[in-house]
Amino acid sequence: MNSHHRPSSPSGTNLDPWYNNYADRAAGLSVSEVRALFAVASRPEVVSLAGGMPAVSALPQHLVVESMAKVMAEQGSVALQYGSGQGVPRLREHILDVMAQEGISGSVDDVVVTTGSQQALDLVTKLFINPGDVILVEAPSYVGAIGVFRSYQADIEHVLMDDDGLIPEALREAITRVKSSGRTIKFLYTIPNFQNPAGVTLTAQRRVEILQICRSEGILVLEDNPYGLLYFDGPPPAPMRSTEDEGVIYLGSFSKTFAPGFRVGWAIAPHAIREKLVLAAESAILCPSSFSQLVISEYLSTADWKSQINTFRGVYEERKNTMLAALAEHLPEMTWTKPNGGFYVWLTLPDYLDAKQMLPRAVTELVAYTPGTAFYADGGGRNKIRLSFCYPTPDQIRLGIRRLTTVINSEIDLLETFNATGPLQTIRQSRSFSAPPPDLD
Ligand SMILES: Cc1ncc(COP(=O)(O)O)c(C=O)c1O
Repeated sequence: MNSHHRPSSPSGTNLDPWYNNYADRAAGLSVSEVRALFAVASRPEVVSLAGGMPAVSALPQHLVVESMAKVMAEQGSVALQYGSGQGVPRLREHILDVMAQEGISGSVDDVVVTTGSQQALDLVTKLFINPGDVILVEAPSYVGAIGVFRSYQADIEHVLMDDDGLIPEALREAITRVKSSGRTIKFLYTIPNFQNPAGVTLTAQRRVEILQICRSEGILVLEDNPYGLLYFDGPPPAPMRSTEDEGVIYLGSFSKTFAPGFRVGWAIAPHAIREKLVLAAESAILCPSSFSQLVISEYLSTADWKSQINTFRGVYEERKNTMLAALAEHLPEMTWTKPNGGFYVWLTLPDYLDAKQMLPRAVTELVAYTPGTAFYADGGGRNKIRLSFCYPTPDQIRLGIRRLTTVINSEIDLLETFNATGPLQTIRQSRSFSAPPPDLD
């Protein structure tokens, strides 16, 4: 490097001479546990129950190719050009059709197209969070959202869930706790349907109650719903956005119902917030990909996208059933959630096991998972595991759970061997206890 370009501070490190020049917010950017796992799990011999990759092989490729060809033949010069910062109007109309499936109505003007809903999470956080502001977040919550919140130096306050989703009483307590500490709550981030990572769904009754609490406390709700249409037995309760326009920002995505490679998601927001979102989006990326938007728009006008979503549901339901059956067969003394849609099962290990420490051994046994700590900002989730059933085939799922069982059992045996006279001598007895109800704390 030319000495000319060295930073003025002499106290960088050997690895990074610019170490002392970063903004404070860069300290919040840490390597996600999921990223490290993606590298490992991509080896073909490893069964990955880790990532949340959709089963894109269930989407007939010719449908995508036809849409792409038609877009290029008929609107090539638009597809290759910059476009509106808010998104292509025709796609925004289609997004209204998609949201209508879940009972949400709105106008084309309310919709902002984003580069995946991940970008919408980033923009909303950028608009609202000063360092030290509080975001209320389910315990556990989506690792990618926690990463964004950290990168804007938010204080993340977890709120307890159970099998029925976020607990309203726990929300009230968290609000009181934060307010009495003098901090400002900017919004509640929630994934009400088939939550990532817990797989649970917020009941209709609780949706009403949570909206009432947030309304009376003046707290904005950020409702993230990428999985709502991927239900198994029946649709989940209507989104909160369907009954409340002013206090809810709603996020949707084509990543799970079409394909994540196009990177198209959206936000629907109260008028004033929507204007700011468009400005923030323009400053971040000028406009979302014209090509991606037009291809999705073409696909939605010409293909039977509703029946394609039905196909996805069938694929995921079979995989979920396979995973639950394998867990019941091999790990009957443990507990796990029973999702009615989405991609994930949340497994609770005995509390003396540490899922993160166990992971290298699991990878040696050729199975990968995401340790629970990835989904907490406060070190929680040590004995929890997120298992994804979305990507592996049923055969791989069976094999993966068998391998995971070997790892868990040998981990327990190891602890017993080294703690034969210590407090862990009761492990063997406790293994045969009947399982307690799942808790998500
Ligand atoms: C809850 C949740 N929100 C947002 C995202 C981001 O999705 P995308 O940016 O692909 O729309 C994901 C992806 O897994 C997710 O699980």
